[in-house]
Amino acid sequence: MRIEEFDVIIIGAGLSGLRAGLELSSKWNAAIISKVYPVRSHSGAAQGGINAALGNLEVSKEDTPKGHAFDTVKGSDYLADQNVVMFMCEEAPKIVIEFESMGAPFSRLESGLIAQRPFGGAGFPRTCYAGDRTGHALLHTLYEQSVRNGVKFFDEYFLIDLIVVENKVTGALCLNIASGELVIIRASYVILATGGFGRIFKRSTNALINTGDGNGAAFRAGVPMQDCEFVQFHPTTLYGTNILITEGARGEGGLLYNKKSERFMSKTAPEAMELAPRDIVARAIDIEVIEGRGFENSYVHLDLTHLGSEKIKERLPGIREISIFFAGVDPIDEPIPVQPGQHYSMGGIATKYKGDVGETDLPSLWVAGECSCLSVHGANRLGGNSLLETSVFGRAIGRKLLEKGLPQKPSLIIRENVENELLQKIENLFNKWENNKGKRPVEISDIMGETMNKNVGVFRKQDLLEKAYEDLKKIQKEFLNVHVATTDRKFNYGLIRTLELRNMLDIAEVTAYAALLRKESRGAHYRWDYPKRDDENFLWHSLVYRTKDGLELKKKPVILGIFEVKERVY
Ligand code: FUM
Repeated sequence: MRIEEFDVIIIGAGLSGLRAGLELSSKWNAAIISKVYPVRSHSGAAQGGINAALGNLEVSKEDTPKGHAFDTVKGSDYLADQNVVMFMCEEAPKIVIEFESMGAPFSRLESGLIAQRPFGGAGFPRTCYAGDRTGHALLHTLYEQSVRNGVKFFDEYFLIDLIVVENKVTGALCLNIASGELVIIRASYVILATGGFGRIFKRSTNALINTGDGNGAAFRAGVPMQDCEFVQFHPTTLYGTNILITEGARGEGGLLYNKKSERFMSKTAPEAMELAPRDIVARAIDIEVIEGRGFENSYVHLDLTHLGSEKIKERLPGIREISIFFAGVDPIDEPIPVQPGQHYSMGGIATKYKGDVGETDLPSLWVAGECSCLSVHGANRLGGNSLLETSVFGRAIGRKLLEKGLPQKPSLIIRENVENELLQKIENLFNKWENNKGKRPVEISDIMGETMNKNVGVFRKQDLLEKAYEDLKKIQKEFLNVHVATTDRKFNYGLIRTLELRNMLDIAEVTAYAALLRKESRGAHYRWDYPKRDDENFLWHSLVYRTKDGLELKKKPVILGIFEVKERVY
């Protein structure tokens, strides 16, 4: 068995992991561990852009970081922690300029300044973009810088579990996917930057790799999950495959129509129309379908034809390609069939109340990006704030750890005992999975995905949520008997799928449980049976723990004080 040792390890090589790694490797012995080759991380799938109040357009001259923060807090349905939002929005112009100086190929205005487009819930056009492949451009830029600066990578290593010695994280147990070898990677700090867990849903824009591996590991180590009931359904995913059709398409002027050729957004958001926040647009689309005004009882039309061929080819080339390849529709000539699909998790690994940003209650464990709940998005994230969050907080956490310095290491004997016990436990688990006679992991994850889609979707209600929660408990039992067909550990994707499912099932259960207990409607969490926001009883973050008797919910205060809590009107 191999042992590696670093000052800090970052698990996940998307934008938050890369940005933290870049900062930390300037002074410390740092390594980034990723289950895929870094440029295949899901940050690369982000299309529309990154928000920053640069004021590059004539119409956005009055834009400010405070205006950005206000839009973000309002968009969050007042559940975001306002001090953290303020920090993110103040850092936004600096991080975008940093990307520019690293060579990120942003689209440009005639003036030569970085181009900005309107996005949902934003008071000004402030989303900076690189065509409709912004995440791809930023991911490659940061990866290039990481390679240039000699960051150490462990590519295709899977995080199995965190190593916790005397209530402090001291490293991670990983599986080298290619060789099948178990590897102990020791570190004084561990940063989880493993991305989202959208694959707990069947219909999602998320890559197949988004299985909440960091969330599962943190939860098993006793760290609670925060605000997992808030799941973002992107309004416009391609009907059939649920591939993302960027909000940038509406930002560029795309319009939504039902089958009666009505611009139905006028009913729910008469001012913002197609550029209302995502939770509002997703619900409006589903209402059209539920009330019989959708096409084939399933989708609505996103019309770009009036934008003209030149604009579509220049600003939305990826969307055109996706529509042609996956739906047989050229948006220059015809509308795109779209429906809401799971896109983003506002919730995630809980961070310490009033601690440093990204710090958890488990000493030496830090979190960044979509796996975390920092909480800057509250009950609903604004488009363009995700790329921003990843890079701002990846950098901030890196800086904060360098400032704190390295903690003392635990005694070697205690550490070795814990590591050996964990290794033995995992070997036993692998042997059990190989000998079990139950369902294959993919069969179980299909059932989980269906359950989540049917019962914990855009519209929720007590009996559906109860059913989801009870069904997930049964699926957990079924998982105890999961069968991994191949015993060869090299590139054993049956084993990887099983490890992923182990993580997803826990987080799916937490999501259904937290949704069941939140008896109000706020942001992306909408309940038919409690259709109003209830600040008196529910203006808190949910923290879900696993106890020996099952899941338990605690409340964490929301940090307010900058913007007054109001009704949202768009
Ligand atoms: O619609 C989009 O391009 C997605 C952007 C985001 O999730 O921030």
